[in-house]
Amino acid sequence: MPCFGAYKQKNQKEDLRKKNDKKKGGDIFRNMVLEKANLAKKYLICKRKDEKMKKYLFWIVVLLCFSSIVGFSLAQSNLDVGIVLPTKEEPRWIQDETRFDDALKTAGYSAEILFSQGSSAKEKENVEALITKGAKVLIICPHDGTAAAAAADDARAAGVKVISYDRLIRETEAIDYYVTFDSIAVGAAQAQYLVDKATGNGNPLYLYAGAATDNNAFLFFEGAWNVLQPKIADGTFVIKNSSQAVALEGKSMLTRDEMSKIIGQVTTNWDFVVAKNLAEANLTMAKVADKGDVFILAPNDGTARAIADAFGDDKDVKSYLVTGQDAEIPSVQYIIDGKQSMTVLKDVRTLVNDAIAAAVAYLTGKTPEQTNAYNNGKIDVPAMPSLVVTVDKNNVKAALVDSGYYEAAEFTGLQ
Ligand code: BGC
Repeated sequence: MPCFGAYKQKNQKEDLRKKNDKKKGGDIFRNMVLEKANLAKKYLICKRKDEKMKKYLFWIVVLLCFSSIVGFSLAQSNLDVGIVLPTKEEPRWIQDETRFDDALKTAGYSAEILFSQGSSAKEKENVEALITKGAKVLIICPHDGTAAAAAADDARAAGVKVISYDRLIRETEAIDYYVTFDSIAVGAAQAQYLVDKATGNGNPLYLYAGAATDNNAFLFFEGAWNVLQPKIADGTFVIKNSSQAVALEGKSMLTRDEMSKIIGQVTTNWDFVVAKNLAEANLTMAKVADKGDVFILAPNDGTARAIADAFGDDKDVKSYLVTGQDAEIPSVQYIIDGKQSMTVLKDVRTLVNDAIAAAVAYLTGKTPEQTNAYNNGKIDVPAMPSLVVTVDKNNVKAALVDSGYYEAAEFTGLQ
């Protein structure tokens, strides 16, 4: 039967297909098994590689840690001296930076200079950064003398020697040495200049002071008061811009609190803008009779220029004499031009050399030379104050150019 034959044929084909399929299935199964075996092999190889990698990584991490510890301790031992200056905004402190750079080139010790930009918080950060870098001696000129005590305490706790630079850090025992100029002599030189130029009686006197946060402002004022007060008492001068100073004018010696009262009224905060605004306000308040030929005690060069500009612009001021200090280049030019009367040269090279000498003494296990001591409210800090020089139009060339302090090319009209 064709049908049956066809049926049988179909069945035979079907059997063959099934056989083939079975065989194929077997092959697929075998392939799968082989693939799995291969994968397992690969996995084992990877795992072994992984373990090797992990071991390598472990040793790399160990090595890195070790080298960073070694590197860190090398960096730590690298820095000998850390220097912190108050601000880059005044030429005075740029002078110090330049002179430090010059002196450090020959000193043979590593040092780093950081600026606090008029912020006690930044100052503390700077001190901490330098301690972390391994500084063994810190030379700090505080922005705010009392606020800086905390930074000095940190340094002391880390075994670092602290040299207070130019300005005294107050209210802490953690100061080893104070490198300074004779700040009372600075104020005295300013006042003496005014006294020497005054004739007759009733000369209008305008008083200005530095920042109350700076111990030097008190020393400058004290030095000036010592010289001015007898000349106020005898009528040579009449104070025109401070009721507090007028109230105390009979006292030859002022307490710190009394000085605070006066400084609070005539402070420039060591800021040119504050100084100019205060001078303008004083001139606005003053009567025509309080002007004429005036005498001005300005605490430093930056404020002197600002105050001079204000007085120079007042039509009722016939002439003015104004003091300063620091021998800043712009003020030397003002002196040459007849716009500022005098400055007090504090040779920054001397201060820098004294600071470096004190630091080297500590680095070599010695003690710096001491001729004096300044009380900072807690202890008497050993010091060796340097001398200062009065400079005006008559000796400006000899004192500042011929002496090699500045290049003649910095100025115009120098005779
Ligand atoms: C310094 C002066 C300086 C003033 C303002 C004082 O402590 O002794 O030289 O002009 O600060 O920065």
